[in-house]
Amino acid sequence: MKILYLFLIICFSSNIPAYSQAFVPNYDEAKIPFYTLPNVIAFEDGSIITNVADWEKRRAEILGVFSKEVYGTSPEWDGEITATEVSSVATDKFIRKEIKLSLHRKSKKVDLYVLLFLPRQQTPAPIFLGLNFYGNQTLSDGANVLVTQSWIRDNNDLGSENNRASEKSRGMRTANWPAEDIVEKGYGLASLYYGDVDPDFDDGFQNGVHALYDQERDESSWGSVAAWAWGLSRVMDYLVTLPEVDADKVAVLGHSRLGKAAIWAGATDQRFSMIISNNSGCGGAALSRRRFGETVGRINTSFPHWFSESFRQYNRREDELPVDQHQLLATLAPRPLYIASGEDDKWADPRGEFLGGVEASPVYELYQKTGIPTTEFPPVNQPVMGHIGYHIRNGGHGLLGYDWQQFLKFADMHWR
Ligand code: GCU
Repeated sequence: MKILYLFLIICFSSNIPAYSQAFVPNYDEAKIPFYTLPNVIAFEDGSIITNVADWEKRRAEILGVFSKEVYGTSPEWDGEITATEVSSVATDKFIRKEIKLSLHRKSKKVDLYVLLFLPRQQTPAPIFLGLNFYGNQTLSDGANVLVTQSWIRDNNDLGSENNRASEKSRGMRTANWPAEDIVEKGYGLASLYYGDVDPDFDDGFQNGVHALYDQERDESSWGSVAAWAWGLSRVMDYLVTLPEVDADKVAVLGHSRLGKAAIWAGATDQRFSMIISNNSGCGGAALSRRRFGETVGRINTSFPHWFSESFRQYNRREDELPVDQHQLLATLAPRPLYIASGEDDKWADPRGEFLGGVEASPVYELYQKTGIPTTEFPPVNQPVMGHIGYHIRNGGHGLLGYDWQQFLKFADMHWR
């Protein structure tokens, strides 16, 4: 008791929220509390769903709950988008373009810069679309790819200081975004800097695409993850207009926080015909009730701007969540979904990401598709691929060449 008292005094006097002081992540399977997941193929009253039509009613309800209680509700887009070509370069293998998409709404405007690699041998091309963490200039050595002017996290290796990107970062993420390998396989790649869509700090939602809308917010208003997802849909609005793009084959993908955004983009926008989550963890593919690694309370404390305010009521109360992440993954059915984990990325709960897919599989089965083809946690570096694919590779948190090789195989399997 004395110790607890002392601890609280230290927290108050140092202005550190007691939660972050007290939080010790659990990495022990044996210490996961007993939990019961909501049945993915049941209505709220418990009646079992046996056909697609009923599921699609349920799907709408589930998405409503995730909007209200987890990510926040994004507005319908009622503005206009203009596209301006910033640069275009052709090699014998690909065409690389940078396009400025200006989102106009009432008297406001936000610019998103999209970097697009299109294979020369394949038109129209299926596309991988994903947000990047440090600006388009990190994805290419090309001197005319613009260095992002948006707010950016400081990073020594990439030379970003005072929240501004620098030349030093040019081409420094090409291993994570292997555009040349992707186009060689006949796919295109589209990417944009996530901070163009919404800068990743708690700004009271004054910046980025939130600023296109009046700022009357309530506890179910959209957070940053929802804004990033919404931005992906605006890029999709543009991609569908391009004859070089096979609009029926656009995979939305993302790593980590941007994997959470990719899943939410896929859930809210059916035009994405494949969804790829890389190390998305808590608020992504991992089951919240497992409380393994990062938890709901922890994520809401460290990143209060990512989710809706209403999500905070489930801090340390995961069992009271009306939904869990397997239900979100199920809303992606019957579209192919790939979930990727890293063995050492315990914070993101690899097994919880796998189980998210396993528990979503009954809904794929309603569509006569196999979800994850096994309920056994697969060994490292041995991907399993049904309509839901999964791998756990060796190594930690990151979007790596190995991951891309599996995504390309998965796309070949479903799209060729
Ligand atoms: C933090 C955060 C994760 C997130 C990750 C990332 O580790 O806790 O939820 O996925 O950042 O985006 O890299």
